[in-house]
Amino acid sequence: MSDGALLRTERLTCDFGALRAVNRVSLDVRAGTLHSVIGPNGSGKTTLFNLMCGEIVPTDGRVYFEGRDVTGLPSHRLPHLGLARSFQRTNVFGKLTAYENVWAAAFARRTPGALGFLRRASEFSEVDEEARRILGEVGLAHKLTARAETLSHGQQRALEVGVTLASSPRLLLLDEPTQGLAPEATQQMTRLVQSLVGRYTILLIEHKMRIVMSISDRISVMAFGELIAEGTPDEVRENRDVQRAYLGARR
Ligand SMILES: Nc1ncnc2c1ncn2[C@@H]1O[C@H](COP(=O)(O)OP(=O)(O)O)[C@@H](O)[C@H]1O
Ligand SMILES: [Mg+2]
Repeated sequence: MSDGALLRTERLTCDFGALRAVNRVSLDVRAGTLHSVIGPNGSGKTTLFNLMCGEIVPTDGRVYFEGRDVTGLPSHRLPHLGLARSFQRTNVFGKLTAYENVWAAAFARRTPGALGFLRRASEFSEVDEEARRILGEVGLAHKLTARAETLSHGQQRALEVGVTLASSPRLLLLDEPTQGLAPEATQQMTRLVQSLVGRYTILLIEHKMRIVMSISDRISVMAFGELIAEGTPDEVRENRDVQRAYLGARR
């Protein structure tokens, strides 16, 4: 897109019965940035993600990815468009090894040709290399053969980021990747997210204010389903509405 928005929402709205979970949210995620969405619990952040990636069909409004209207497209088609998400709760196959989890995701991404059942032999070594590279990227090179269920909580979340990366996303949606992590694992995850900046466009939901303030290029603030502010970390920190709605005494 000429203005550089990789993802754009226009007046995105989602009702659950009488509850309006997301109300007319318009935002642009620019290519190459780390853009965070913050807001109190229940303010509609996860629902916004679900709308963006086609988990939920919006009540109203549009979603554009690279200028293309993808509103209501089912989520299984979106990875192929380059939009991949992680989940607020860990979502990996516990019985598979770390390597197998990433390998499967990398393999699934590759669209076979007309004779899809005839895979090139070299493809397997390419996927193998890719899986190993990604596991290195997320700090799990030493855990290739460990079953996912035996990993620590922090390692499982890192693995989930690896699985998400294996789909080669143009836009990475991360929903509270540090949720439930101990301080040290939180720091590791923060460093991991930081290490991806520049190579990926990242939209991050994060509850921990210090992290958001230190690593984001832009921040959108939600409250009661609405976008109440957007700007650089400094702008958001100084915003009165944000202070009132969200930061409060925690500042
Ligand atoms: N599938 C659903 N059905 C009904 N209500 C929902 C559903 N998902 C979320 N909600 C409600 O929508 C509001 C926003 O939730 P959510 O998007 O999960 O907020 P956040 O991620 O900011 O904590 C909450 O009031 C929540 O209870
Ligand atoms: Mg949430």
